[in-house]
Amino acid sequence: MSKEKFKTMGNVFDLHTEAAIFKLMSEGHFDGLQSPVSIGKEANIFTALKGKKKVIIKIYRLETCDFNKMYDYIKYDTRYLGLKGKKRLIIFSWCQREFRNLLKAREAGVKAPTPIAFKDNVLVMECIGNRNPAPKLKDQYPKDPDKFYNMLITHVRKFYKAGFVHGDLSEFNILNYRDFPVLIDFSQASPIKSMNSQELLERDIKNINRFFSRIGAKIKDDLKGFITS
Ligand SMILES: Nc1ncnc2c1ncn2[C@@H]1O[C@H](COP(=O)(O)OP(=O)(O)OP(=O)(O)O)[C@@H](O)[C@H]1O
Ligand SMILES: [Mg+2]
Repeated sequence: MSKEKFKTMGNVFDLHTEAAIFKLMSEGHFDGLQSPVSIGKEANIFTALKGKKKVIIKIYRLETCDFNKMYDYIKYDTRYLGLKGKKRLIIFSWCQREFRNLLKAREAGVKAPTPIAFKDNVLVMECIGNRNPAPKLKDQYPKDPDKFYNMLITHVRKFYKAGFVHGDLSEFNILNYRDFPVLIDFSQASPIKSMNSQELLERDIKNINRFFSRIGAKIKDDLKGFITS
């Protein structure tokens, strides 16, 4: 797609974001945006085509994201120190952190989208799903809740063993792909040596156990023990 054609897609992006999208396209990571999937608190998600394959583009908004809240989370991550007050850098680091966390998850054998590329506030990753993005767990309950729960906690344990906690785990950030769990939204994932990692893990555990006991799964009494052992 030419820069001119891309610009006529509507003035939906600020100039910086437009440039980042165009850079990623010119590097061959995708051919053009296809359709919007979700408008979140901090980011907008689109599908895009790369040849016949679908990829996901996550665009952190530069104007309307809550960078104070982002800073409050990222300041404990030992990989990202000294960001205080640097608004753009906080957002770019947040995006880079999600890319790096996805790589770590994939390396650890955790089911998650494969990260493809990032530039500033724009992240490109594998699209989980067949023809369309797979549904969130909250919208499609598993056929066998016990089996799904056990697969899920095995992934959380693998990620912990690799030195990380997800930090924003719930039925909103788990996809149900043909009755297999796939974890998404890794921007809050942090090394376990970060000061707040145990707090994040405990919240993840609470969310998971609350949801799965609601849908009738047999939950582990000592899930924290299982994950950290
Ligand atoms: N790799 C992916 N494959 C398929 N669908 C995805 C993928 N990534 C995101 N989605 C879809 O987009 C939605 C929003 O994505 P995500 O959870 O990463 O962002 P968000 O919750 O808006 O982020 P934030 O809370 O940081 O603003 C997901 O719930 C899911 O429906
Ligand atoms: Mg999310």
